[in-house]
Order: sequence, then C-alpha cells, then structure tokens
Amino acid sequence: MSNRHWLAFVYRLVRLAGRPSEATSELIRSSYDRIAGGYDAAWTDHMRGLSLELLDRLTPPFGARCLDLTCGTGFVAAELARRCGTRPVGVDASAGMLDVARREHGATCDFVVADALEYLRAQPAGCADIVTCGWGLGYIRPWKVLGQIVRVLRPGGQVAIIDNSLFSLWRVIWCATKTFAERPEALDHVMKVRFLPGSRTLAWMMAARGLRPTYTADGSKSYVVATGDEAIARLTATGAAAGFEFAARPEMKDEIFSRFARNLERDCSGPAGLEITHRYLAAIGQKR
Ligand SMILES: C[S@@+](CC[C@H](N)C(=O)[O-])C[C@H]1O[C@@H](n2cnc3c(N)ncnc32)[C@H](O)[C@@H]1O
Repeated sequence: MSNRHWLAFVYRLVRLAGRPSEATSELIRSSYDRIAGGYDAAWTDHMRGLSLELLDRLTPPFGARCLDLTCGTGFVAAELARRCGTRPVGVDASAGMLDVARREHGATCDFVVADALEYLRAQPAGCADIVTCGWGLGYIRPWKVLGQIVRVLRPGGQVAIIDNSLFSLWRVIWCATKTFAERPEALDHVMKVRFLPGSRTLAWMMAARGLRPTYTADGSKSYVVATGDEAIARLTATGAAAGFEFAARPEMKDEIFSRFARNLERDCSGPAGLEITHRYLAAIGQKR
C-alpha cells in the first residue's frame, strides 16, 4: 500500500473525527438493537465468568439498592437481584437489548431505556448502595459518569466496573485500519468511543472523583474462529464491532467487509485458527 493511500486515509479520518459524538451514540444504539436476540449466546455465555468474579468482590448490605448501567440484556442486574434480594434498576440506551432483558429478567428487575449519564443526572443524591457497569463504560463518558456515580452512591456504597480496554482487539482494529487505508474513500464514519488503557487509569479516575479504589484487575480472554467471515460475524454478534457496520459507505460495504475478512485471515491467524483477544480492565471503588 502506498504512502498516498495512508495520507488520504489520515486526512479523511481527521475530517470525520470532527463530527459530533452523538452520531456515534446513535449508531451504537442501533447496532445493539439489531444484535439483541443473539447477544447472550455470543457474548454473555463467553464472558459471564469475568463479570461474576467482579460481583463476588462486592459486599452489598442487606436490602441493597442496586443500579446497573449499560445493563444490556440484564445478566448483571439479575445477578444483583439474586444476591441482594431486591429489585435492581437496569439502564440501557438500546430498547432492543431491554426487550430481551425484560423477557428474561423482568420478574426480578426493572429496566429503563435511557442514556446512562442522563439517567444518573435525574437521580437524587445518595439513592444507591451498589452501582455496576458491565462492558459499557467506553460508550458513555467515563469521567462525567463517574462524577454522577459518586453523587448517587450513599457513603460507603460501592461501584464495580468491567470493560474492554483501549488495547482490546488491537489486532482486529489494526486490520480494520489497514482495510480503510487501502480504500480511504470508503470511510464514512469514525466511531468516537472512550475505552481506558487499563485498570490503573480507572482507579486513578475513581480516586480523583472521591472514591477509594479497593480492587483492580486487568486480563484477556480469547476465542478462535476458522475464517475472517466467521470472525466478523462473531465480532458483530458480540457487539464488539458495534457501529463498525456503519463505518463504510453503504455502496462499498460488501467490498470493505470482504477485504477486512482477508486482512484478518492474513494478520490474526495462528496454528489453532484465527484468534480474537479481548483485553479488559476492572475496578471497584467505594464512596468515602
Ligand atoms: C457490551 S454491552 C454490555 C451489556 C451488559 N452490561 C453485559 O454485561 O453484557 C454494552 C451496552 O451498552 C449500552 N449503551 C451504549 N451506550 C449507552 C449509553 N449512552 N447509555 C446507556 N447504555 C448504553 C448498549 O446499548 C449495550 O447494551
């Protein structure tokens, strides 16, 4: 690939990056609406152990009032209900994800369709004992959301967060970048997400917001698929590629996805197949 391609790509990237981030939120929401039906099989079943390990470290008081931000299909909210014996509130921007959540866990939890930050701003101070946010912090504004979480927690209350790190899927992201650098004119939208580099950054942000970080962890979890097309199907079904389907011009989408699949096969294949690795961060903070 020539330097001219890379220059054209960077120019387009910078120009599109100037667009308001509301556009990204809308694309992410509609991506999750679309994949809601298959999300649990593709993501929750693979990752539930990591979310459960984090919940195991919380010490909710009897009758804890729980709030689960970016709750998706409600697995974490339902687990909080089981552990605390109360009705947690799950909040998510995707009505499609919440349809599944209500069907699966409506007997034990309440679910609200809302942007997480807007929802928090509307809540009274000190109204929650436990706040959780599973695999969604990078989609919302971490600094502002943490400020609101501190406000809604009662003194001694805890927040538990687990999310993909900035370096999650870096080989996949590199392949996607190369794909668009080969065809810069296909790039139509740049996703504006805010994944953090690691748990130390999250702990630092928690401390700066007035929480006492009590636990941090970083790690990774992989799965293996046979082909690039299979990788794209799985990345889409898990929500890991949320919004990527809108990154290319509609009329060039098929060509871009086919190039992306071939690049994945070339750059991510190992002896066992094509390995996709999610790197994650987790932290718990307690309000002083
Ligand atoms: C990877 S899923 C996580 C779902 C669930 N917490 C879990 O542990 O599997 C990310 C969720 O964040 C939600 N989301 C994205 N942006 C949001 C926002 N601004 N406010 C609320 N939810 C949002 C998506 O709709 C999606 O359901």
